[in-house]
Amino acid sequence: MTILTIPITFDKSHLITIGEKLYSESIELIRELVNNAYDADATSVRVTIAEDEIIVQDNGSGMDEQGLRQYFNIGSTEKRQHNRSPKFNRIRIGEFGIGKFATLAACGRFEVTSRKDNFAATVTFDKEEWEQSNNHWHLPMRLEAPEILKTNGTTVKLNKLYKKFKLDDVERRILEGVPIKAEHFEVYLNNKKISARFLAGQRIPVFEGSEYGIISGELILVSNTNFIVGGPGIEIKVKGVTIKRDLFGMEINFPQLNLLTGEIHADFLPITSDRTGFIKDSPGYHEFNKVMRGVLQRVLHDIKYWQKQKEKKKNRRIVNATVDKVLNALKKNPELASLIGLPVSPEEEKQKTEGEILPKKPRVKRTPAQKRMVSKILGPSAVVARLKIGKKGISCQLDHFGQDSPESYTESNIIYINLDHPLYVREAKNRERLIVNVARLLTQELTLLKNPKNARQAFDTQSKLLKDTLIDTTP
Ligand SMILES: Nc1ncnc2c1ncn2[C@@H]1O[C@H](COP(=O)(O)OP(=O)(O)OP(=O)(O)O)[C@@H](O)[C@H]1O
Ligand SMILES: [Mg+2]
Repeated sequence: MTILTIPITFDKSHLITIGEKLYSESIELIRELVNNAYDADATSVRVTIAEDEIIVQDNGSGMDEQGLRQYFNIGSTEKRQHNRSPKFNRIRIGEFGIGKFATLAACGRFEVTSRKDNFAATVTFDKEEWEQSNNHWHLPMRLEAPEILKTNGTTVKLNKLYKKFKLDDVERRILEGVPIKAEHFEVYLNNKKISARFLAGQRIPVFEGSEYGIISGELILVSNTNFIVGGPGIEIKVKGVTIKRDLFGMEINFPQLNLLTGEIHADFLPITSDRTGFIKDSPGYHEFNKVMRGVLQRVLHDIKYWQKQKEKKKNRRIVNATVDKVLNALKKNPELASLIGLPVSPEEEKQKTEGEILPKKPRVKRTPAQKRMVSKILGPSAVVARLKIGKKGISCQLDHFGQDSPESYTESNIIYINLDHPLYVREAKNRERLIVNVARLLTQELTLLKNPKNARQAFDTQSKLLKDTLIDTTP
């Protein structure tokens, strides 16, 4: 058997392809350059976007000649071997050794000037020159006086720009693509410091262990999807860099999850080398996906509870407001006011403090649904309001009694209003209409307490009470 060898060859133009075609958006170069500065222990990075130039300047460790050679080593494993930075012990973001070539998608020429102590030099990468010199693999390196940079650090300058970037877009990319909240790390964009924005909303801390590592962060439930900038979903971050926004497909069945944002950190997740996706068939990603779906199930449960609380607050406000209006109306209708022990005159008030609240009523036969209403233990979203003067009065209890139960019912001086009744549900969509509806039910029940002789009389009484409730005639 004869064994020959064939060399693996690497076409020169492939380097340009890596830069131009790997990153789906050229703006990603900002993330790559700023994160290189972070990995180099910089405390300050200044990004300048000018008409025909982009500059990213850091005060990190800088590079000596060896360092600059390392810089242009394609696919360098340096950071995988030393995954912590020497000075601040930062978890280094870089891992593929190609990030700097992201610049090639946006410009025809970039220049790296770096100072490390007494060494300083500039290396230029010009795309055209590189492509023309077929077999020549070298780049020009110009030695500089160390003072060319005030401190150790690196400045990358992009010229011959093909694209223009809007400052807002660059800012957003920095916010999500760079560990902006890290200690001793500041990023300036055209001299303005970039800081993380505060988003108002219900906060849900997440801290989950997994076989592969920790999954932690904070979810935020906002009241309106318009508050979420940068697209829907939770930011999934690896080493402080947002790789993807995701709701794990659960938003399809549970659209209320679209109100959820925030960030989750899972540094163990394997990512694609353009940092915009995960290696989805890896066991680590499978586990992460499973844990996150569990987290979102719990969040859904919480959302349900908060929505109930919100509904309860709204109902309470409306019922209280309506009850006040009904009380005022009762003052104008003394014959009904006596039903709830409301004094007609101050003298009567004194006499009435003792004694029965309601006139004795003959026992009525309840329907099963009415029975259920009366015997129901107060639910978590029940609202109770009292129509009262002094210690006497009638309670009004709003609760979920099921859509087949009556709209309202009264027994033992409690007026029950059914939050599930289709009419209530419909009217609840509009505040004014809900007030009218609650007033209608309260006046109806109060009228019935009076035991009207016939339907005509009942409707007349209710109509008068309702008019006095809803139409304020007091000067
Ligand atoms: N601003 C900088 N200061 C000091 N050294 C730098 C700087 N930028 C890059 N380097 C050096 O150049 C190397 C190549 O950078 P590059 O961004 O291409 O790869 P990486 O950061 O290692 O990996 P990735 O492709 O994941 O970004 C780095 O490993 C680092 O040693
Ligand atoms: Mg990098």
